[in-house]
Amino acid sequence: MTRPKILLTRRWPDAVESHLSERYDVTLNRTDTPLAAAELKAALRAQDALCPTVTDRITADVLEGARAKIIANYGVGFSHIDIAACERLGIIVTNTPDVLTDATADIAIMLILMVARRAGEGERQLRCGNWTGWRPSHMIGTHVTGKTLGVVGFGRIGQAVARKAHRGFGMNILYHSRTEESDQGETEAGGAKYCTDLAELLRNSDFVSLHCPGGAATRHLIDEAMLAVMKPGAFLINTARGEVVDEAALIRALESRTIAGAGLDVYEHEPHVPEALARLENVVLLPHLGSATSETRIAMGMRVARNLDAFFAGRAPRDRVA
Ligand code: 8YV
Repeated sequence: MTRPKILLTRRWPDAVESHLSERYDVTLNRTDTPLAAAELKAALRAQDALCPTVTDRITADVLEGARAKIIANYGVGFSHIDIAACERLGIIVTNTPDVLTDATADIAIMLILMVARRAGEGERQLRCGNWTGWRPSHMIGTHVTGKTLGVVGFGRIGQAVARKAHRGFGMNILYHSRTEESDQGETEAGGAKYCTDLAELLRNSDFVSLHCPGGAATRHLIDEAMLAVMKPGAFLINTARGEVVDEAALIRALESRTIAGAGLDVYEHEPHVPEALARLENVVLLPHLGSATSETRIAMGMRVARNLDAFFAGRAPRDRVA
């Protein structure tokens, strides 16, 4: 029996590439160079499945004429895929939830601590040879323990951040999402308080951490007006998607100290990071490391494999999103 043809658009962990190669006729991307739109289009026409990442823009044009009937995304976020076009063309889309929840939540907690305690700034000073020694007034930061954290988007990752912040740092939790979570979600997150109104959450939070999906519905959810509502001493953390924040407005808010600082793992036009952002001392900038642990990246790949196995065995893949 011929094995289904699948294409991985980037290098994946060796263990996953080997696992998939035992089951499928796999095309690997050994150079790890992102594919151009025309290459993605050709792949969709030649393969039975495409396995993309956040660096691949799967537009309606790229999808046109596709032979593949499944796009098994490596990652939980899928705002880089035109879901409406996939649905129109009868293409199933799957993602990789659960397995990256803790890794991503950990990065959000790390950014909260780094930005509050000026860790990036301190490291830059030391590495430049500019540290002159301890003194009581040196690089004073903001206390985290006991402060209020506003979580925007209360899915798996948002709830994990709330839990870690509450249990680990005694933070009070406010959250905002499209729907109020079940009692269980609230209990697990340590008595998190639901804010119907995003502005109410922003007004009352010392730290705001974004965990909503990207895409048209949340584009620039945090804009100039919303940044102006935040406390002047507050910090914005984004490990969700760059487009959720109006990056130009954020730069202005950081420059004018409308807010105290930001910790970012994602950007509006990755991998481009505006020069004006990189110049600021009151931001911590990470290169989209949310899920970057070896355990998580292998688990994500195995989750893709399970979705493919189900699809090609004629069963419903567990992580179907379209
Ligand atoms: C992934 C992420 O590594 O899963 C997500 O949504 O943001 C990242 O942590 C990336 O999307 C891989 O495609």
